[in-house]
Amino acid sequence: MQALAITSLSAADVAKQYEHIRELGKGTYGKVDLVAHRTQGTKMALKFVTKNKTKLKSFLREYSLTGSLSCSPFIIKVLDVLFETEDSYVFGQEYAPAGDLFDIIPPQVGLPEEMVKRCMQQLGLALDFMHSKNLVHRDVKPENVLLFDRECRRIKLADFGMTRRVGCRVKRVSGTIPYTAPEVCRASRAEGFLVTTSLDVWAFGVLVFCMLTGNFPWEAALPADAFYEEFRRWQKAGCPVGTYPSQWRRFTDDALRMFQRLLAAEPEKRCGVKDVFCFVKYELVSELRRRASCRAKRGERSTPLKRSVLSDPLSPREESGQHQSPGRDKNKSQMVMATAIEICV
Ligand SMILES: Nc1ncnc2c1ncn2[C@@H]1O[C@H](COP(=O)(O)OP(=O)(O)OP(=O)(O)O)[C@@H](O)[C@H]1O
Ligand SMILES: [Mg+2]
Repeated sequence: MQALAITSLSAADVAKQYEHIRELGKGTYGKVDLVAHRTQGTKMALKFVTKNKTKLKSFLREYSLTGSLSCSPFIIKVLDVLFETEDSYVFGQEYAPAGDLFDIIPPQVGLPEEMVKRCMQQLGLALDFMHSKNLVHRDVKPENVLLFDRECRRIKLADFGMTRRVGCRVKRVSGTIPYTAPEVCRASRAEGFLVTTSLDVWAFGVLVFCMLTGNFPWEAALPADAFYEEFRRWQKAGCPVGTYPSQWRRFTDDALRMFQRLLAAEPEKRCGVKDVFCFVKYELVSELRRRASCRAKRGERSTPLKRSVLSDPLSPREESGQHQSPGRDKNKSQMVMATAIEICV
């Protein structure tokens, strides 16, 4: 069993060790900076997680989970850099120089199909690796997919802050995003829901739709959402050929078969993530249908992509309760040990 040590550094210590280059991104729980180690010259991404939004235990869980998955070529690598400052917990990750997937999806247009297929394969392998270890990412979205080149020849899944083990009961975070599965949208906040790999499969299906179209299929998988309701009615009718919901008319029949399996309403009927691999050999978007659907769509509403935040930024990542780091010492130069027993999911 591994023990983790977290060192305390003052802002001045951090500036002495790392040259700040620029901010790479801001998430719900903090920010990520590009820095260079002053003596070694190594560039890295430092993820700062704000202490008032995350417990030490959750932060260490994210760090150790990312580390345990880093052996996959499709998952971001953590570095041996772990410290806390006055207001944040911080860990180092390899730097993805081409940014995240959200940034390169042309709104309302989508990515070229070949690029989407490369992403489907690499992300499918990342998720399949996690699922084989009984872990569920729970926050699959383009903002959490990092790029090493703009053609998506090398991409990696990142942000394991929400990752949990299959079978865990978790509380529903407030709000839903388009990637949230319908059973989670429906779950009561009090009872919560059981974590299953089918949650990632749903989010992966929505992500593939977003990459191919530059739109969301819906804002939330709830009956009150007209786009979702139209899709659901079509599913319930047995997905009849020729009467496709408006947002789905551009896809080939093969792509529609794939989406039916990824986005099955009942979680137990959803396919495994690697079942999409057999669909990458087919054409997914039909140029003819796309043009027809664009003509039909004029004047019709669509749901343009925007960056999505899974949880209420005002509430902590974990269940409510005041943050009190176990074993934390007020003395700044103190090393704090947290054993893996505290951080296992
Ligand atoms: N290693 C990295 N290399 C390059 N950019 C990165 C890296 N890590 C994160 N980023 C950028 O920073 C953003 C936020 O990072 P991350 O998703 O880890 O934070 P978060 O606070 O957990 O986000 P969320 O809002 O999804 O909970 C990413 O969407 C990405 O744009
Ligand atoms: Mg994120």
